[in-house]
Amino acid sequence: MSSLKTAQSQQRTQTGPVLEVVGLHKQFGDLTALDGIDLTVNEGEVVAILGPSGSGKSTLVRCLDQLETINGGAIYLDGELLGFEQGKTLRPLTDAGVRAQRRRMSMVFQQFNLFPHWTVLRNVTEAPVAVHGVAPAQAKSHALDLLAKVGLSDKAKSYPLQLSGGQQQRVAIARAVAVEPRVLLFDEPTSALDPELIDEVLQTMKTLAATGRTMVVVTHEMEFAREVADRCIFMAEGNVIEDRPAEAFFRDPQTDRLRSFLARSMRANSDHGAGQTKETQQP
Ligand SMILES: Nc1ncnc2c1ncn2[C@@H]1O[C@H](COP(=O)(O)OP(=O)(O)O)[C@@H](O)[C@H]1O
Ligand SMILES: [Mg+2]
Repeated sequence: MSSLKTAQSQQRTQTGPVLEVVGLHKQFGDLTALDGIDLTVNEGEVVAILGPSGSGKSTLVRCLDQLETINGGAIYLDGELLGFEQGKTLRPLTDAGVRAQRRRMSMVFQQFNLFPHWTVLRNVTEAPVAVHGVAPAQAKSHALDLLAKVGLSDKAKSYPLQLSGGQQQRVAIARAVAVEPRVLLFDEPTSALDPELIDEVLQTMKTLAATGRTMVVVTHEMEFAREVADRCIFMAEGNVIEDRPAEAFFRDPQTDRLRSFLARSMRANSDHGAGQTKETQQP
């Protein structure tokens, strides 16, 4: 367990990783969804998680966000153990303790999950005001600022169902950022979108990445991963098979598994006309 010792010795050091996952295990009954995942995410890093359907990508990010309880290993956020209290023995944290930790991360889901009966503005200001205690006026001006950054200044008073899927997802991204999370998690944020709406969301994420946000992104968008991610992780059957700088990941895969996955994905992407950035299509 030398890796666990390493993780513990890094607790509360300022220069340690933002997120550290050590030997993470997750079972669903007899099914091993995560089979000992090790992963480190440093400040400002964008890490893309790729892999076939069922390989454990969603389970991993859901464990990071404490939407799933874990069966082994440990997750540290800024050196703090998530989900457990570290006394003489390890005890599960209280619900309040878990909620406090969860406030420091945000997740963007495939299905947006906006509140349909609230305006766009309220969707973005609700958590800062109700959960983080930010003054309403301050939350509003921050939210309007974020909506401008995702290109939706004119939609603050609209309701989610009056927006396209791409616009809804950009609102969801603004909402996720509004709480100033230490880490932004994305689980296939463009998979529910019509192809012509994908690029506007990827562009928004690219802008976020460029401003130094720490991001963990589960995605099938190969061009995005190659262009925007610092590191790419390839998962299969609950294991990390490769974890390398993005450029090397795509240029020189180390395993046959990743090689054939990349070949299949590139083919699928070009079949669907994806993989081109919007700028290159504009006059
Ligand atoms: N709530 C659940 N109950 C039972 N099995 C689950 C549950 N969630 C995921 N699984 C299983 O865990 C494995 C990993 O799933 P998932 O993390 O969703 O994969 P991915 O996101 O890579 O497609 C799959 O075999 C899936 O069927
Ligand atoms: Mg998934």
